[in-house]
Amino acid sequence: MPAPRHNRPKLRAAVILFLLVAVFVADTVTKFEIAIAVFYILIILLAIGYMSTRGVILLAGLCVGLTGLSLLLSRHGSFEAGLMNCGISIAAIATTTYLVLKTVAAQASAFEAQAQMVRVARLTSLGALTASIAHEVNQPLAAIATSGGACRRWLDRDPPNIDKARQAVDRIVHDANRAGDVITRVRSLAKSEPLHREALNLNDTIGEAIAIAQNETERNNIILHLSLAEDLPQVLVDRVQILQVVGNLLLNAIEAMHVMPTFKRELEITTFQEDRDRIAFTVTDSGVGIKPAALDHLFEAFWTTKEGGMGIGLSISRSFVEAHGGQIAVTSTPRMGATFRVSLPVAERNLA
Ligand SMILES: Nc1ncnc2c1ncn2[C@@H]1O[C@H](COP(=O)(O)OP(=O)(O)OP(=O)(O)O)[C@@H](O)[C@H]1O
Ligand SMILES: [Mg+2]
Repeated sequence: MPAPRHNRPKLRAAVILFLLVAVFVADTVTKFEIAIAVFYILIILLAIGYMSTRGVILLAGLCVGLTGLSLLLSRHGSFEAGLMNCGISIAAIATTTYLVLKTVAAQASAFEAQAQMVRVARLTSLGALTASIAHEVNQPLAAIATSGGACRRWLDRDPPNIDKARQAVDRIVHDANRAGDVITRVRSLAKSEPLHREALNLNDTIGEAIAIAQNETERNNIILHLSLAEDLPQVLVDRVQILQVVGNLLLNAIEAMHVMPTFKRELEITTFQEDRDRIAFTVTDSGVGIKPAALDHLFEAFWTTKEGGMGIGLSISRSFVEAHGGQIAVTSTPRMGATFRVSLPVAERNLA
């Protein structure tokens, strides 16, 4: 039980003592028929929150004892009625003490459970935040390592190829900045900060994400089909977040095609105007597809079917899309691939 908060403790102690004496004297000098002793209940109620559980029980015992003593000392009225009133008063004191202490204990454990829930929620969101950052910086970090290796090879040549080495260093700087941007975006998502919006052409952002994933698509012999609508209205979005969403979908698509024979690895990306207020893009792969039972869990944090997977990519992508007022959905035929569709509201000034 948390330590009771003392509110003007000396005054309360004085009141309790005064009432104790007053009730005892009144109970002793009045007739047996008048059950003054029930007023000991008031004293118990006053002591709650001021005394410890043990203190309240001792006080209740004292009240019971004083009730009995008054019965012995009283001289007026029928002793039988006094005995009955004494029994009633003692029962009332005991019941009140029991009920009040039980309520206080229940309140304390509810309070403790609530504090525990807050601690768990904080840990969970901290865990999700850490996992999200780790997940999202993985790609730029891998790119930095690749460019670093390339840079060293250009420098080790005889004679060293300074131009190529410089290009590799430029890529390192670019990817390091990207990693920094990504961390900022994930942190601001966790803190519900406003988005860094800018008016963009979705096709350009998709082109940028494809360029980032180019190494992976080439290494995995993936054939890419693009069907990008012309004259799309602009979207008012956080470029870094949308890049992350497309990047995560591309990565999942590539991973879903790992087990397919090379000639069956096809990736299609489309953009189109969904209706007057929204534009959309889809990412379709020819990979393993998704079982119907799995569709319900796909976007949950830490849900994964991959050995080395974190199960974070889709959950953070959905958070990013929804922060933009958009939606993300999936359709799939098992063993025939999957299509992820993301729709985003168009920038308001294009709606006039
Ligand atoms: N294109 C896809 N085809 C088939 N299954 C997919 C596809 N995209 C996602 N999935 C399924 O959804 C699960 C969750 O995807 P998500 O990107 O959230 O996590 P992950 O890829 O498993 O791990 P990571 O956090 O490293 O990205 C995957 O484990 C996979 O089972
Ligand atoms: Mg993933």
